[in-house]
Amino acid sequence: METPQHPLPDPAGFPWGIETLSEQETEDLGARLGGRLEGGETVLLYGPLGAGKTCFVRGLCHSLGIDDEVVSPTFTLVNTYAGRLTVHHLDFYRIDRETSLEDIGVMEVMDEVAAGRAVLVAEWPDPLVPELVGLAPPLIWLGTPGTDPDQRLWRLRYQDDKAAALAADLGLSKLGEGPC
Ligand SMILES: Nc1ncnc2c1ncn2[C@@H]1O[C@H](COP(=O)(O)OP(=O)(O)O)[C@@H](O)[C@H]1O
Ligand SMILES: [Mg+2]
Repeated sequence: METPQHPLPDPAGFPWGIETLSEQETEDLGARLGGRLEGGETVLLYGPLGAGKTCFVRGLCHSLGIDDEVVSPTFTLVNTYAGRLTVHHLDFYRIDRETSLEDIGVMEVMDEVAAGRAVLVAEWPDPLVPELVGLAPPLIWLGTPGTDPDQRLWRLRYQDDKAAALAADLGLSKLGEGPC
């Protein structure tokens, strides 16, 4: 369950979506995104615990040739993987008020991303959002459970000219207005 400190964005603000029906399908979605990354991207993953955010990142990493086991950085805060691109996987679920982003190396990560040498993927990304000035617009995902236990809906929001083309490439459909 997300705590009141972890509000989720309003699904109505996400124009595209796709359903996954298994962990594998969510990994495949992450892999399709990974295959299109060029370096310099920021991917923000919202969704309650168990939505499959870490599964998504696992697929993304594997598509970039990363063989390491991809596990949640909930306690380490930042996990870095070297593949075709460097992936910095961050998770701010447990960050406390006393921990500054500087202390955990986020500024160096952002410099590397800004230089196009790495991608940044963050779960529970709210503490990061005010720091993203100067980077390319983030790809923002919201994963939510469906009615079936293995069903998830992944919604995407992305302020970029190529957003519609990317969404189509990833197999996403335009979502209707109002709640889905
Ligand atoms: N469609 C699905 N996509 C992703 N995970 C799923 C799906 N259906 C069931 N699951 C299960 O949900 C859990 C997701 O865990 P995880 O990726 O760690 O979530 P999060 O990082 O969002 O907290 C896993 O146990 C996975 O097997
Ligand atoms: Mg996770």
